[in-house]
Amino acid sequence: MSYDATFRVWRGDAEGGDLQSFTVAVNEGEVVLDVIHRLQSTQVGDLAVRWNCKAGKCGSCSAEINGRPRLMCMTRMSTFGEDETVTVTPLRAFPVIRDLVTDVSFNYEQAARIPAFTPKAREEDGNHRMQQVDVERSQEFRKCIECWLCQDVCHVIRDHEGNKAAFSGPRFMIRLAELDMHPLDTVDRRDAAQDEFGLGYCNITKCCSEVCPEGIHITDNGIIPLKERVVDRRFDPLTWLGSKIGRR
Ligand code: SF4
Ligand code: F3S
Ligand code: FES
Repeated sequence: MSYDATFRVWRGDAEGGDLQSFTVAVNEGEVVLDVIHRLQSTQVGDLAVRWNCKAGKCGSCSAEINGRPRLMCMTRMSTFGEDETVTVTPLRAFPVIRDLVTDVSFNYEQAARIPAFTPKAREEDGNHRMQQVDVERSQEFRKCIECWLCQDVCHVIRDHEGNKAAFSGPRFMIRLAELDMHPLDTVDRRDAAQDEFGLGYCNITKCCSEVCPEGIHITDNGIIPLKERVVDRRFDPLTWLGSKIGRR
């Protein structure tokens, strides 16, 4: 079954732009990205949109749909009533290049700042060993598809452009948490998390966890434990002493 939907799509570039309205056909089972592609092929051939996998795995098609950060390819049109206007705008936390495409290089710059995983030496039999619970924690964080929806929704950088110099954002807090809690990693990342990546800017609003398409518990499993580790380090003299003599 098909119907005609009303779409409002932001069109413009770094100089400015506005929402434009379109009436566009929707077929049963389609997602928002299908409708954007139909618009592109039938009405606005030069509409800029970034996408790749159409399977929720490449993280390219991030946008704001009716004000909520979402993947366009994973947002079913059945989410909306047939009479409901669907408004699609670019990620607000990042500079617009054109239409729905934003410049997300801030995120790659943050990724490059984090020191790489530095494993300790293998055991005598040539193996690395770690507990299953540590494997599972890493696996959860490594489900990240780098869609930047959490980065977009976090009010610390969304509403305060100037904070980007001090706070790397939730995606990088879980990268730091993953590595800092990794039993094989030898780099101590706690002071850097606080002093260089701005962990203290997060006030645990949990909006990042709510929009993550991979269902990563960014706040509960990553940011809060990382904050606890920093606090232990700074305010518990025994933990501090332990860290100085090589215990982690
Ligand atoms: Fe996207 Fe989730 Fe990764 Fe954030 S943590 S970039 S929301 S997949
Ligand atoms: Fe931002 Fe997530 Fe913290 S939304 S404030 S990083 S809990
Ligand atoms: Fe790859 Fe949507 S196109 S996540």
